[in-house]
Amino acid sequence: MVTPRSSLLSESDPTPVVGEPVVEVRELEVSFGGRRVLRGLDLEVRRGETLVVLGGSGSGKSTLLNALTGSVTPSRGTIRVLGSSVAELDLARLDAHRVKVGFLFQNGALFQSMSVRENLACVLREHTALTAEEIDILVKMKLELVGLRHAVDLMPAELSGGMRKRVALARALVLDPPLMLYDEPGAGLDPVSLAGVDRIIATLGRILGMTSIVVTHHIESALRLADRLVFLHEGTVVASGSPEEFRTHGDPRLRQFLDGAAEGPLNDRSGREDYATSLLGKERLR
Ligand SMILES: Nc1ncnc2c1ncn2[C@@H]1O[C@H](COP(=O)(O)OP(=O)(O)O)[C@@H](O)[C@H]1O
Ligand SMILES: [Mg+2]
Repeated sequence: MVTPRSSLLSESDPTPVVGEPVVEVRELEVSFGGRRVLRGLDLEVRRGETLVVLGGSGSGKSTLLNALTGSVTPSRGTIRVLGSSVAELDLARLDAHRVKVGFLFQNGALFQSMSVRENLACVLREHTALTAEEIDILVKMKLELVGLRHAVDLMPAELSGGMRKRVALARALVLDPPLMLYDEPGAGLDPVSLAGVDRIIATLGRILGMTSIVVTHHIESALRLADRLVFLHEGTVVASGSPEEFRTHGDPRLRQFLDGAAEGPLNDRSGREDYATSLLGKERLR
């Protein structure tokens, strides 16, 4: 059962205006130790859009997000984010760039020795000249956004997994980034907590007009959040479309992924050495 996106929000929520490109990636290649992980990837995300990136483990989804923040250096191609060419940013401008791009990390860790309030306040103290009183108001506003204003004085150890994820999200949002990147926001969450996080992501997109890229392999979550989806395979986008188009998409690799089938073109063994050859070597088998 797939929940349509509209069920996440009430009737009165405005539809976002999808505007100019916020992310433009052209022919992106990223290699680690000579192994090409991204191989000529193209991607465009427009203002106000929620793009979901699907793909198997190791297909390069996190690498793509890291390239957008400038944490990974491409071997080829161009990346423009919020009007800047990421490769051309010097260190000072790269810091400013990272403030504009909110990132909810896969293992979105909080500082364990700091209260929820302090986890958010320290970011504001570092990057703004706001007074303590103003910081406190902003912290409570961001916690309200994720439904956790009542948790302001708790320590991370006192929170459930879903609450911790929402605090990490509030912290990623505390500087009002125009672009948010989410790396598997649902990882390790039960279905109810996942629906709660999805609802917040949808609200940010729909009501606040935030531009978002969400990496996930929760198919249901992907289809209810996305304005558009892309499917990554072997370092490139092999399918792209609306949730409706994905449900009926003809690409056999995407079909296997969406259906969760154990066998199919994604793990096609033709062209690989058979088991005996790989164990014993061609010489011994002669
Ligand atoms: N910093 C790194 N150094 C070396 N290899 C890496 C690094 N980051 C990712 N990789 C490799 O690149 C491939 C893609 O990784 P990743 O982008 O994390 O995949 P995904 O997020 O889709 O699961 C994996 O094989 C991974 O081991
Ligand atoms: Mg990853």
